Amino acid sequence: MCGIVGYIGEVDAKEVLLKGLEKLEYRGYDSAGIAVRNEQGITVFKEKGRIADLRAAVDTSVEASVGIGHTRWATHGVPNRKNAHPHQSASGRFTLVHNGVIENYHLLQKAYLKGIQVASDTDTEIIVQLVDLFVSEGLSTEDAFRKTLGLLHGSYALALLDSEDADVIYVAKNKSPLLVGVADTFNVIASDAMAMLQVTNQFMELHDKEVVLVRKDGVTITSLEGTVLEREPFTAQLDASDIEKGTYPHYMLKEMDEQPTVIRKIMQAYSNEAGELTIDADILQALQEADRLYIIAAGTSYHAGLVGKEYFEKIARIPVEVHISSEFGYNMPLLSQKPLFIFISQSGETADSRQVLVKIKELGYKALTMTNVPGSTLSREADYTLLLHAGPEIAVASTKAYVAQIAVLAVAAYVTAGETDFDLKQELAIAANNIQAIIERKDRLEKIAEDYLKIARNAFFIGRNLDFCVSLEGALKLKEISYIQAEGFAGGELKHGTIALIEDGTPVFAIVTQKAVALNIRGNVKEVTARGANACIISMEGMAEDDDAFILPKTHPLLTPLVSVVPLQLISYYAALHRRCDVDKPRNLAKSVTVE
Ligand code: G6P
Repeated sequence: MCGIVGYIGEVDAKEVLLKGLEKLEYRGYDSAGIAVRNEQGITVFKEKGRIADLRAAVDTSVEASVGIGHTRWATHGVPNRKNAHPHQSASGRFTLVHNGVIENYHLLQKAYLKGIQVASDTDTEIIVQLVDLFVSEGLSTEDAFRKTLGLLHGSYALALLDSEDADVIYVAKNKSPLLVGVADTFNVIASDAMAMLQVTNQFMELHDKEVVLVRKDGVTITSLEGTVLEREPFTAQLDASDIEKGTYPHYMLKEMDEQPTVIRKIMQAYSNEAGELTIDADILQALQEADRLYIIAAGTSYHAGLVGKEYFEKIARIPVEVHISSEFGYNMPLLSQKPLFIFISQSGETADSRQVLVKIKELGYKALTMTNVPGSTLSREADYTLLLHAGPEIAVASTKAYVAQIAVLAVAAYVTAGETDFDLKQELAIAANNIQAIIERKDRLEKIAEDYLKIARNAFFIGRNLDFCVSLEGALKLKEISYIQAEGFAGGELKHGTIALIEDGTPVFAIVTQKAVALNIRGNVKEVTARGANACIISMEGMAEDDDAFILPKTHPLLTPLVSVVPLQLISYYAALHRRCDVDKPRNLAKSVTVE
């Protein structure tokens, strides 16, 4: 949510910044800006809209070897040019980019900045004005930066330029991600290593409330109190080609196609030398000792968590609760005697989930994070991590990470169970092949999208048991990228009110993969078709009927979410294409939501 980059070195900074912002655009794309510094001072370019709009607005004749940049997902102030970052202090001396939310900005403004005319509606501007104020009162820039950081409540990743000092970028973070990338003749900063892989694969982690001075020939990290801290760089295990779209028109399509490979990678990553599925012994012990698991997640990850509950309860016989992170932290249920918390998060940065992690750690409980991003905040701050091995997911709508989350949950539950009556590895291999078979039938799914959704205003997704979990994810995918209002329902629940919305032609997608409830869900389909609905039944081989719209290859009954979600993802994709929506960057959304 909002992306930050910075460069200090010997060559022109503009292209490194713009390329970096293009890689971070998934974090926010309301508006964007860069500030560069040369002998003439600091020049700011900013635009509402995409990085392409910013690129067009940048004056290529301005050369500078120091700069910072930002791509925005608006929190305070509407997305427009005025509220776009970088922001400058009233005197023009300081320029700042910020990711996060400053909760007490209004109080700080009242207490310190009474006479100062602000130019934007943002919380960010208050930070840069405070630095300027403290410098005007006699502090050095570094001390003014420290003093300002000490006053801020909230989340931030910050980069500050001083027009009177070309040699340094002042950097700090709290709760929001930020890395320093290092090299011989330059150094960079970025919210995410992906943004700077173009120039380095060596990065340093920054910790909350450190004060960091980034120069072209060195990086100084100190605590807020001023103690100098040593930090070794790490090598980012990312291949630049992982984050390229290649010949695909959209990242989302590429990522859906990668789903069989992701499952196979997970099987490999969680196999021991004998080829048996395994997880880290400490994690296994923590899972086996827990009397109840609390799964905490948001969005698509929450939907994967619902499937995870079924796995841990049915395979490992451990009771599970699944909670939406933004609700849990502020209204904790009665906890069991020996709970284990499982955080599921593709990005590992979701602020809603992190606030829960902080609270349960304060209470002394253990946490396991399942994430796609090694070294992410939720991974670092939890006791244990299970990686998703999905590779970078760039499209805002999550697809391969969902499938990876379900596969890793299945592995964890299976290994925790010890004794089981099925071979998960074999069943996962079958599921991977089945996904492959589905993605080879894209034409059929494109036709379904056209037949059922071309003129739809709304749509319903229904299923029972595991199919209900998937119907929630199917509806979310469709809403996110096509803007068709869509709801997922437990098949039996629709008649208790929502059926009032069914009209002639209302699309209803029904998933039928669970034998025990197959007849019930077909009964629910009859209820809606009797009222005019246009029902699209997606069923599994072995329980299919003649008029079903799409038949899924036979998959183990517990693993059906891995395959049944795939046609729903593709139908959403084609529905969004028909409506000419920006599939990879849907309006109002961001991939990594680092504000609560
Ligand atoms: C955002 C994204 C969703 C994602 C959710 C949780 O809202 O747009 O696609 O499911 O955050 O993200 P996480 O990284 O924690 O899985």
